[in-house]
Amino acid sequence: MEANMSKRKDPGRSLRIKVISMGNAEVGKSCIIKRYCEKRFVSKYLATIGIDYGVTKVHVRDREIKVNIFDMAGHPFFYEVRNEFYKDTQGVILVYDVGQKDSFDALDAWLAEMKQELGPHGNMENIIFVVCANKIDCTKHRCVDESEGRLWAESKGFLYFETSAQTGEGINEMFQTFYVSIVDLCENGGKRPTTNSSASFTKEQADAIRRIRNSKDSWDMLGVKPGASRDEVNKAYRKLAVLLHPDKCVAPGSEDAFKAVVNARTALLKNIK
Ligand code: GTP
Ligand code: MG
Repeated sequence: MEANMSKRKDPGRSLRIKVISMGNAEVGKSCIIKRYCEKRFVSKYLATIGIDYGVTKVHVRDREIKVNIFDMAGHPFFYEVRNEFYKDTQGVILVYDVGQKDSFDALDAWLAEMKQELGPHGNMENIIFVVCANKIDCTKHRCVDESEGRLWAESKGFLYFETSAQTGEGINEMFQTFYVSIVDLCENGGKRPTTNSSASFTKEQADAIRRIRNSKDSWDMLGVKPGASRDEVNKAYRKLAVLLHPDKCVAPGSEDAFKAVVNARTALLKNIK
């Protein structure tokens, strides 16, 4: 990595980077890489055993980039094999299957595993993460929608792409943006450029949207106790309306959350004397 940094003042010279793939077994990590590098798709599942390693060359602006790709096995069984490969990484491809909610919910655990392996001095801030919401061709089975995935990714300052290794949709675009971001990072002294590091919405907004999405009824949605008064309902409504109003909030899913809050208030007020 230090060698990379010393080259950053000479844009014509080549750069060597390390990227890794992470995510549950069978979400399509190997197929995404194969689709990009070999322009083909394999429909038969061949589980990665431990780690697959490959080298590829790409061009970003006027630089030749040598990419070392470490494609990790997602199965817990391979934890001992993959844990030593987290260090000295500039980019992470974090994959989930849009038809498997578990694989989306597991993303936090993948980040935690990486953090743990990097140890107390490891810095996750200066790594480019791209989240791939994969298998979007399987529309019938989709259970994690775009705004939910995008919200998770963007609230962490990660890139987000909808991909299909089967059709190729989103794959080139994802890798292109990913590599450009990594080169920007290297040319910025190994620090994430500030434009990428902060989301354009607050944590409070992201948390409110998530809470509304997971609420069990209208009371829960507004965050009031069942049987609350008109005043309490209106007060809770106003707070959320200000937080999530489409003119003020650009977080993914905010428009639907705002509509849901309006409907919840209407429904509750109908039944409160
Ligand atoms: P591990 O190596 O075990 O961690 O799995 P992986 O994440 O590398 O999954 P892999 O790429 O091997 O793909 C798993 C299965 O999903 C295979 O049967 C693929 O053909 C299929 N698959 C991968 N990507 C897609 C996709 O975009 N659409 C569809 N329909 N199937 C896909
Ligand atoms: Mg694999």
